Amino acid sequence: MVRSAVALKEDSKLKFESYEDLVKRRGKMLAPVFSEDWPNLPVVRAEGLYLHGLDGKRYIDFMSAFGVVNLGHNHPAVVAAAREQMEKQIHGAVGVTLHESVLRLAALLPEVLPGHLDMFFFGNSGSEAVEGSIKLARNVTKRPGIIAFIGGFHGRTYGAATLTASKAVYRTGLDPFVPGVYHVPYADPYHSSHPYESEKCVEESINSLELVLKRLIAPSQVAAVIVEPIQGEGGYIVPPKDFLVRLREICTEQDMLLIFDEVQSGFGRTGEWFAAQSFGVQPDIMAVAKGIANGFPLGAVCAHYDLMSRWEPTVHGTTFGGNPISCAAAIATIETIKREGLLQNAKETGKHLLNRLKELKTAHPTVGDARGLGLMTAIEFIIPGSDRHPNAATAKAFLNEALSRGVLMYPCGMHGNAVRVAPPLNVTLKQIDEATNIMGESLSKIR
Ligand SMILES: Cc1ncc(COP(=O)(O)O)c(C=O)c1O
Repeated sequence: MVRSAVALKEDSKLKFESYEDLVKRRGKMLAPVFSEDWPNLPVVRAEGLYLHGLDGKRYIDFMSAFGVVNLGHNHPAVVAAAREQMEKQIHGAVGVTLHESVLRLAALLPEVLPGHLDMFFFGNSGSEAVEGSIKLARNVTKRPGIIAFIGGFHGRTYGAATLTASKAVYRTGLDPFVPGVYHVPYADPYHSSHPYESEKCVEESINSLELVLKRLIAPSQVAAVIVEPIQGEGGYIVPPKDFLVRLREICTEQDMLLIFDEVQSGFGRTGEWFAAQSFGVQPDIMAVAKGIANGFPLGAVCAHYDLMSRWEPTVHGTTFGGNPISCAAAIATIETIKREGLLQNAKETGKHLLNRLKELKTAHPTVGDARGLGLMTAIEFIIPGSDRHPNAATAKAFLNEALSRGVLMYPCGMHGNAVRVAPPLNVTLKQIDEATNIMGESLSKIR
């Protein structure tokens, strides 16, 4: 039985500190690289859209813990499924033993994935899903090259960090990186040298890719092109559809695999199950994590049987991947999104949210851009009157002001001057109005 806090306190041998005291001491216990971030908000309970702080205040979580709790915190259906599974079995070493929830999840996922992705390797995180995706591509094609994009964020493990090019700091002190990785510019409509001119920004990126394939690495040496169909950490950048269409065409023509990293854009965030469906473009491999189990650690490498079954056994593996509780939570997450019509809700509320953000842009010259798809939206701060000159200081002031008024959001983008606005998929229009009103008040205050 779990011992109560009172029982622990009474045990004279155990040093018992209050949460408040532990928070004060955190800098001496948690590695800075793990915990030094903004705003370090101590939370005692999380439920639905809300975080309940140690300070007694209630906060609106408008970033869904990095797009993980797409159903809101502690959704009852997920809690119930996890609890039920925990009573039966907590851990299972897949391959040595089998458990029902991993098989049920594997049977269910093809219903929501684009095209014919019907075979899976389960890990614990986004980085692992990305790592697995590139290992699969290299192992099957026997080619070394991987092409990734400037602005992309793919995780922190070595392979994933090698692919990452959203901020130089994520790569600092890591050399030498995994060999064989080449970066080309992403089709970024707002930051391109031809802002909002979709055709030109697609052309710029595709020309660079073709140049790399002509001058640096021949397509016959490239295992895969990996891309976030919407860049997350890189700034919530929505590319023109044609960019992804062209990538698909080039990969097919040149016999290279196309990997979508949908760790952040997946699981309903864009108003479809995945951004691949929003854009109507089919990847060969997909990396999925974050929202898949609404808070339980789970990641998946997804591919069609014809490809995945060629990844030789024992070349890759996992201890915790496909955890029974995480898989049960993932099944409950999928069922809840279906039962509660949350894709439709994300589409409808997402349109309203983007309109509200565009109104903020019109009213506040420090907001240079408002963009997004579904409930994956952002505003970007610039120096008013400049040609999109980044304004990270105002973004920071805005985030602090909004937090003091009870709304938690988080920065993104190369300069940290964009703010991601990503509420859970079951957010209501009223809640969007409440939060965006607070955003408006915050903008007026910091003016
Ligand atoms: C697109 C994308 N890929 C991969 C990752 C890495 O995921 P994790 O932090 O679970 O390893 C992230 C995390 O933010 C991400 O946004």
